[in-house]
Amino acid sequence: MKISQAPIFSFGIAGVAMLVGMTFSSCDRATETGEGEIASVDFVNDVKPILQTQCIRCHNDETIMGGLNLMNREVAMRGSSRGPVIVPGEPDKSLLYRVTLMPADEDHAMPATGAKLTEAEKKILFQWVKDGAEWPEGEAGTMMPIKANQGKA
Ligand code: HEC
Repeated sequence: MKISQAPIFSFGIAGVAMLVGMTFSSCDRATETGEGEIASVDFVNDVKPILQTQCIRCHNDETIMGGLNLMNREVAMRGSSRGPVIVPGEPDKSLLYRVTLMPADEDHAMPATGAKLTEAEKKILFQWVKDGAEWPEGEAGTMMPIKANQGKA
């Protein structure tokens, strides 16, 4: 009796410990990648391609719609004719992100014409602004002029 009970008892404890451990670790994971959050966003790999393909055709050195130029950090931080559009750490105050949420029929919805951003693209902009809107100097942070595409908007 004693001999057969011992292994069952210790399995029971181990089983409980395993369950507790699993419960805790899955909670941790849920917090880290909670609703709407992306682990981390990189300007060059994640944000730059969105601005380049969706925004630059109307917000470049020559076509500066709304007074907003997004070709590099310096000009982007000057904002639009109505003021700053990027408030690092505060996506809700950053028009650069907020205009992408607006329904297409709203005046300031962006892109002004063409397809809206995907949910994934909006989340990237949100997370990037929230993380401090890091935007490198120099070539890495400079968009490509796309004169060939102008007018197709
Ligand atoms: C087809 C042209 C076009 C494209 C593409 C475009 N915009 Fe605009 N954008 C405009 C025009 C025109 C204005 C000025 C009128 C307005 O605010 O609606 C403007 C204004 C803005 C403003 C200033 C809004 C304000 O109230 O001051 C922001 C911010 C902006 N755009 C962000 C973006 C972003 C981000 C993208 C890419 C996701 C983008 N735009 C793509 C044409 C465009």
